Amino acid sequence: MAAPALEAQNLMLSWGDFAVAEGVSVHVDEGELACIVGRSGCGKTTLFHALAGLEKPADGRVLLRGEDITGVPGRVSYMLQKDLLLPSRSILDNAALPLIVRGVDRDAARAKAGALFATFGLEGTEDLWPAQLSGGMRQRAALLRTYLMDNDVVLLDEPFSALDAITRVELRRWFAGMVRELGLSALVITHDVDEAINLGSRVYVFDGMPRKGIVSRIVGEVDVRGEGPAAAKAALEGYLGLS
Ligand SMILES: Nc1ncnc2c1ncn2[C@@H]1O[C@H](COP(=O)(O)OP(=O)(O)OP(=O)(O)O)[C@@H](O)[C@H]1O
Ligand SMILES: [Mg+2]
Repeated sequence: MAAPALEAQNLMLSWGDFAVAEGVSVHVDEGELACIVGRSGCGKTTLFHALAGLEKPADGRVLLRGEDITGVPGRVSYMLQKDLLLPSRSILDNAALPLIVRGVDRDAARAKAGALFATFGLEGTEDLWPAQLSGGMRQRAALLRTYLMDNDVVLLDEPFSALDAITRVELRRWFAGMVRELGLSALVITHDVDEAINLGSRVYVFDGMPRKGIVSRIVGEVDVRGEGPAAAKAALEGYLGLS
């Protein structure tokens, strides 16, 4: 069987002496959209730092299609929990930023980013400032910028949580279509059980309270496709102690 697009094996996560999580094994298959749900403070963002190579885990490995990339940044695209656009740059320049950072000539970067504006539903916004866009449009611009990091494995940390309910549902649906269309493999963090079920084909439950000395772990995994949405929701709520 082919190696997963991205796989974490038995990660131990900490900030200095402060233990956050242990025994964390998660993966995303090729072309899959999987989710991680967990309460605030359990260590979801910390886990993404390790998957993105921004921090080296205290133990365990991160594999990209079988290649060890533990502690190596830049191999997966990563949209931060607060992925703010730079307020004094146009939407086009904001989107082109990852290419410019990588040394692509500014005009070429703008052309490449601009060619994707229609795909991301942003046509006509190229020369606007971020403040002139709606919340949903800003989020699509941030997703475009993440896509232009140019890796086909993407990590998204609560990408829709700042949006109103209607926009969130629309954007979620649109995003799932984009993952298919662009051939991405995606791992999405959310604290919303319904969002996880709507978005993910599989959902991991990450739970613990590191600040209270309860180190977090993956406490459950639900196959949404196999179980169906109602059973999946009941299972997730059970794992989270909500039912
Ligand atoms: N840079 C840091 N230095 C020290 N501790 C940190 C740091 N970042 C996070 N922590 C701690 O690690 C634990 C997990 O934080 P993390 O941000 O990963 O949680 P989270 O699950 O993403 O929460 P939320 O849902 O609120 O975003 C928390 O106790 C937090 O205080
Ligand atoms: Mg977080």
